[in-house]
Order: sequence, then C-alpha cells, then structure tokens
Amino acid sequence: MSNRVIVMDIGAYSSKVGFAGEDTPSLEFFTRVGKPKYQDLDKKFMKLDQEIYVGDEIQSVGLYKIFRPVQNGKIVDWDYFKKIIDYSFYNLRVDPTLVNVLFSIQPLFPTEDLKRLFRLFLEEIQCRAFYPLLDTTLVLYSGGFQTGLVVELGESSTRIVPMYNGFQLNHAVEVLEIGGSVLTKYMGEVVEDTTGFSPDSSIRREIMRALKEKACFVSLDYKEDLRRSEQYKKEYYLPDGSTISLSKERFVVPELIFSPKSSYEFSPLHIAILDVIERCDVDLRPELLNKIFLSGGSSMFPNLKSRLYQELELELARREKENQFVKIIAPRERTNSVWIGGSILALLPEFSERWITRASYFRNGIPKHLL
Ligand SMILES: Nc1ncnc2c1ncn2[C@@H]1O[C@H](COP(=O)(O)OP(=O)(O)OP(=O)(O)O)[C@@H](O)[C@H]1O
Ligand SMILES: [Mg+2]
Repeated sequence: MSNRVIVMDIGAYSSKVGFAGEDTPSLEFFTRVGKPKYQDLDKKFMKLDQEIYVGDEIQSVGLYKIFRPVQNGKIVDWDYFKKIIDYSFYNLRVDPTLVNVLFSIQPLFPTEDLKRLFRLFLEEIQCRAFYPLLDTTLVLYSGGFQTGLVVELGESSTRIVPMYNGFQLNHAVEVLEIGGSVLTKYMGEVVEDTTGFSPDSSIRREIMRALKEKACFVSLDYKEDLRRSEQYKKEYYLPDGSTISLSKERFVVPELIFSPKSSYEFSPLHIAILDVIERCDVDLRPELLNKIFLSGGSSMFPNLKSRLYQELELELARREKENQFVKIIAPRERTNSVWIGGSILALLPEFSERWITRASYFRNGIPKHLL
C-alpha cells in the first residue's frame, strides 16, 4: 500500500513530494515554471524545443521568465500548477491512476479551489483517491499531537493556528504578512544600503536568498549586538568568485520578525502568538502555550526558538501572566514537518476509511465536512 500513497506539500517556494511511510520526501524542488527568454537562440544552439521548464529543470533563473503558480497559499495559475503536479508524478516514476494523493492545503484555502483540486486529481488526472488536509493538522501529526499552536513561517506568510483535537479554531487564526519572500527582499535592501550590492536582477535576488539562509541568525540581544556588530563580520563568496562582507546585516534582517519596522503592517511574532492564544477558550490557553510548534523554512534561522521564548516570557510578564509555562517544539527537520505529518497520517489504519475514492466522488460528490 505505502508506495501507492503520495503525499504532496506544494508551497509557494518549494514542493515536497514523496511516498507515505518514508521519513523524507523523495522530491524537493522549487515551485516554479519557466519559459526560456531566448527561445530562438536556445533552439539554434542548444537544440532545445521544450517550451516549459519545471522545478529543477530550470538551471539558471536569469535565462527564463519565471512563473510561480502557488502564492499566499492559493493556486494562482492552474495550468502551471498542473505542470508542477505532472512533473511530480513523472519524477516519482508512478502512474498517477494507480495512486492515492494526500494533499496539504493552507488555512483559509478557498472552497472553490478545493472543488477544483478534486476535479483535477480525480477527474482529469484520475488518481485512485484524493484527500486534502490542513497543513497545520499535518505539522501537529508530525509530532504526534492533535492539540497545540502551530506557528508556520513559510515563504509567503506566517500562519499562527490553534488546533484542538485535530480541528482548527478558525476564529483565532492569524496570518502575518511576513515570510521568506519579505525577508529576502529586506535582505536585498539592507545589503544594498550597507555594501552597494544591488539586487537588481533575478540572479542577484537568488544570491540574496542564499545569503539570507547561510548568513543570518536571530539576535538574542539586539541592542548589544548592534553595538558590537564588528564581531559578526564575515566574508561570503558570491558565484562570480568575488566576496561580500556582512556583519550587522546578518541579524538585522530576521529582526523584522520580532520588531517589524513601521512600514510593515504585521505585529511582532510573540505579540501575535499571545493574541491568538487569548482568542481561544480560557481552559485551552495553558495547553496551547505549552505546545507551540514551529515549522516552515523561515523558522530555520539560528536562535529563533530561544528568542521567541525570551520574548514570550517578557510579554507574559508585561501582561501580568508570568506564571504560565511556555514550551516551544522545533524539530530539526521542521522545513518538512507538513510532509512528514502527511507521511505518518496517510498510513494510519483509521485513515483508510477517509479517502475519497474516484467511485465515491462520482457517486456522492465531495463530503460536506470537507468544504
Ligand atoms: N536555513 C534557513 N534559514 C532561513 N531561511 C530559510 C532557511 N532555509 C529555507 N529558508 C527560507 O524558507 C522559505 C521557504 O520556506 P518553506 O519551504 O516553508 O515555504 P513554502 O512551503 O514553499 O511556502 P508556503 O508554505 O508559504 O506556501 C524561503 O524563503 C527560504 O529562503
Ligand atoms: Mg509550506
């Protein structure tokens, strides 16, 4: 059975796809589709006649016009999205008509799009069965929990989602407009300001992203670190062989998560987390505070967990609630928590009843509780 169940987490930035029951996704690739900018030259010199390139087929972003079919948790281009799905099946070497697909969706995914996903997987691609699940449910499952507060720092946003017995408490969900893309852009601004290196092309923006992932960390004492920022000075190699020297840029960028500048409209992460918890039932609050699950690529900055802990304690004291117990769970493989949760859940015996098979979809449609 296990090699018949495919788990898909198609994010705005990267797609994680693989077989349920395995520890890690077999495929991880950028969720992007590219059309060569210089197609005539390509054809002449490289004998390429492919029009569309997907995921890791795109070797150098500068040579392609890039399309990102998933943005802000929504599918914004269905044709290109289908290319991503086809690419996934092809590279997994599976016949899609022989598999079940567990598909992760973000909180507040539009109902119309959910119906369209069913049509795509069960009518068009003709998979054996399909099931959409909230990514936050999957994050909790990856840790073996059904109640807790999921804080997912992805590419397009940060989602703060309280879950109780596997159900999302919709009224309290908060989505902050900060994620990897905002941080990469900010990295570009800060680095241009201090070094003059301008992120003025798609290749240079890619460099900024890579530098952000490699060089940045969250400060545990921001004022003090600014004062002695020289001690963080480090040279980084750029792809053309030159180097760039970074010091305070390394912690100024992720500081945005905890102290957003006035031009950004989102709340500091710790404040938003406590506000979400306060919107939940008073009896549930201690448990949520005690099971804060970090996940997503942008949660990978070193020290993020410690700083969040510090800030939560301080803010609880400010709100005169210092006797509360805070626990943050941040597994090392948390960029893949959504996928891992799906990999575990899809093979649980009790889950086998939940699949929407093609036959039941055509007979009864989509069950109401899923819409
Ligand atoms: N080690 C790291 N340090 C900091 N940021 C990182 C690190 N690794 C990845 N990222 C960032 O994480 C972001 C991608 O996160 P993730 O893979 O969770 O997004 P996604 O699932 O594609 O997007 P979303 O869930 O928002 O649709 C990118 O901006 C990437 O630069
Ligand atoms: Mg994601």
